[in-house]
Amino acid sequence: MLRGKTIVLGISGGIAAYKAAALCSKLKQEGADVRVIMTEAAAKFIAPLTLQTLSRHQVYLDTFDERDPGVVSHIDLADSADLVVVAPATANIIAKMAGGLADDMLSTTLLATTAPVLVAPAMNVHMYAHPAVERNMALLAERGVRFIEPGTGQLACGYVGKGRLAEPEEIVLAVRSWFTQSAELAGRKIVVTAGGTVERLDPVRYLTNDSSGKMGFAVAEAAALRGADVTLIAARTSDAPPEGVRLVRVESAEQMLQAVLAEYEDADVVVKAAAVADYRPVARSVNKIKKSGERLVLELERTADILQTLGERKTHQVLVGFAAETERLEHYAMDKLQRKNCDFLVANDVSREGAGFNVDTNIVNIYGPQGLIETLPLMRKREAADRLLTLVAAKLAEKERGE
Ligand code: CTP
Repeated sequence: MLRGKTIVLGISGGIAAYKAAALCSKLKQEGADVRVIMTEAAAKFIAPLTLQTLSRHQVYLDTFDERDPGVVSHIDLADSADLVVVAPATANIIAKMAGGLADDMLSTTLLATTAPVLVAPAMNVHMYAHPAVERNMALLAERGVRFIEPGTGQLACGYVGKGRLAEPEEIVLAVRSWFTQSAELAGRKIVVTAGGTVERLDPVRYLTNDSSGKMGFAVAEAAALRGADVTLIAARTSDAPPEGVRLVRVESAEQMLQAVLAEYEDADVVVKAAAVADYRPVARSVNKIKKSGERLVLELERTADILQTLGERKTHQVLVGFAAETERLEHYAMDKLQRKNCDFLVANDVSREGAGFNVDTNIVNIYGPQGLIETLPLMRKREAADRLLTLVAAKLAEKERGE
């Protein structure tokens, strides 16, 4: 299963470091090439020779212990990794990762790598629940780091609670599913729209909305991590777009329509997370509009409904629409899904705290032509994006089988 994959295994200094030996052995048995980096503290708990013997490679401990003059070790390791696994991860290494510190071989390599990172924390129950640790983990999760939750039970420190390193078998399972997932959308072309459109009144004024672009960005990033070829069509957004996607910037609903149509024929999936203006000014003044009189009446006209246009022209594409509602969620969601000929409709009740515009979390229901498919509780948009893409990938596979 892991043949041909290079896994950099980072071991930090907690008592659970002894379990890293079993993990290393199991990853090797699955066919992976395992390169081990240990922190100084880890080497107090378990002998580097154990890991060297199991991995059949030198174990890296010291950034400056350069044995091969032909390479710079931390860069070489960082570049060679298909995946970096940190197990066990102490509160300290998690903090260093969150803060971007690079003061030993492991933290330096973690900073230098562009490979995905899986982290298996292990620490005392109170440390795990500490707001600083929680915040660091949330920050890393936002950057795409995946966590393997620690188990609950008797801890080496004497406490009973959450903080025990996940069992090596579980970590291997997470590694395997990461590789399966990362190839899931390989070769698929996914178009994602994000942000709020801008409808100009004159050279300095415009109508727009509160969309931050976060949900669309989360979908684009998650799709790229699953191997898809992603085109992100973004209007006005407050966040920076993710890396690893092709970015097309647009302003108005009309420009977004043209940009999406240009990609549509070759697309396997279109995710319309953008908040598109329903109306635009009838006239756009070339010069700045001067004030005159007590009242100013703006005349607006309908924009094209992009999603509906795509729905009408759909041949093989999987179409995903979004709906922001404040009442009768299911009723409006199903109405939009049918009207716009979508395969999925992601609906959020923006009147609830933690959902909708300008926050990192969302509470959504995902509907299909048959009705409700999944209700997702409050979770990070990135995680909600992942859940959506699992459904989309299953739909693509279903289509391929001709069902
Ligand atoms: N949408 C679109 N083009 C528009 C308006 C909306 O493609 N001109 C898409 C959005 O990107 C979203 C979905 O349609 O995926 C739902 O948007 P919403 O504005 O809620 O739909 P409307 O039918 O315009 O909603 P309402 O009837 O509540 O105004």
